[in-house]
Amino acid sequence: MEYRNLGNTGLKVSVICIGAMTFTEKGWRTAGTMSFSEIQKVVDYALDRGVNFFDTADIYAFGESEELLGKALGNRKNDVIIATKVRGVMSEDPNDRGLSRYHIFRSVENSLKRLGRDYIDLYQVHWWDNHTPIEETVDALNDLVRQGKVRYVGISDFAGWQIAKSVMLQESKGYAKFVSAQMYYSLLGRDIEFEVVPACTDLGLGILAWSPLAGGFLTGKYSKEKPYPQDSRYARMKRPFLRFDFEKGYFVVDELKKLAEKYEASVSQVALNWVKSKQFVSSIIIGVRSVSQLKDNLGCVEWDLNSDDVEYLDQITQPDRPYPQWFLDMFADL
Ligand SMILES: NC(=O)c1ccc[n+]([C@@H]2O[C@H](COP(=O)([O-])OP(=O)(O)OC[C@H]3O[C@@H](n4cnc5c(N)ncnc54)[C@H](OP(=O)(O)O)[C@@H]3O)[C@@H](O)[C@H]2O)c1
Repeated sequence: MEYRNLGNTGLKVSVICIGAMTFTEKGWRTAGTMSFSEIQKVVDYALDRGVNFFDTADIYAFGESEELLGKALGNRKNDVIIATKVRGVMSEDPNDRGLSRYHIFRSVENSLKRLGRDYIDLYQVHWWDNHTPIEETVDALNDLVRQGKVRYVGISDFAGWQIAKSVMLQESKGYAKFVSAQMYYSLLGRDIEFEVVPACTDLGLGILAWSPLAGGFLTGKYSKEKPYPQDSRYARMKRPFLRFDFEKGYFVVDELKKLAEKYEASVSQVALNWVKSKQFVSSIIIGVRSVSQLKDNLGCVEWDLNSDDVEYLDQITQPDRPYPQWFLDMFADL
């Protein structure tokens, strides 16, 4: 297993992180259901292969994901890095959501109880809250770090300017700074390269790439002829959650299949290897519903794409550069 530093911190995280959004027995949204025995097998297999990083959130199955993760880790739970999140809507109570001091303080206690732990390694704000001043949020998070309930803090799904504003504020007040940005990043979703990645690189945050397989689309099991294979996430979805051009997606998958043949690997491994090639990525948060999917995906740590193939994939998935990027590119050397 390869370990990378989490942003500018000294904390080493495995380059593959197991996302627990699929961890639920009841069924949650489109991620599907997993029996506890399958969750246990996934966690055991991941630990055996050197994974030391797990990601969950309070809103995944309304707390059940945190509970099942804690239960599956058992007495190994203090030997791994656990990341969870706060921000989503937990109940009808108008104060049971958002990034107010009130909700953050209440949520951290609930997450600690569900995980069965005294502290959280990485506490992430799930997405920006338009209804709470960011000053209130970073002040509350700093208190949690000083109290020892939380070791590091991170963001998720922020715009570039929101990251810059928050971190500058934390720096000016001497507060614990955000160390990571959990963002959607895959061959079919490279938008973060324009604003978020430059902000994070400049300010020292590591990227945690979520849905690196575009929710399973980049595994090769979807095709024009078979757009909704049985028991797949896309078949279960009423409408796609991730936005991308399907025509382009099928083309990219065809190219991945050729590379998979060349490297004698799976399509998923090629797609994950491209994400792994980006040094701004601290860890790749994969989702699985079975040990066989996990075995397949973890195979990506055993080998690397060569630089020509990375460049080729860069080129065929290159998004149009929006303004002001193309303007700034034009005058970058002046
Ligand atoms: N911060 C955020 O806003 C945010 C949002 C979303 C996710 N996340 C995090 O990112 C994690 C991963 O997200 P994700 O589940 O969307 O990631 P993903 O890796 O892009 O997709 C995972 C899904 O693809 C399918 N799959 C995976 N490997 C496969 C294989 N080898 N062969 C065939 N199918 C395979 C499975 O779905 P089926 O078998 O059901 O088709 C699996 O559940 C989550 O658990 C969560 O921790 C964060």
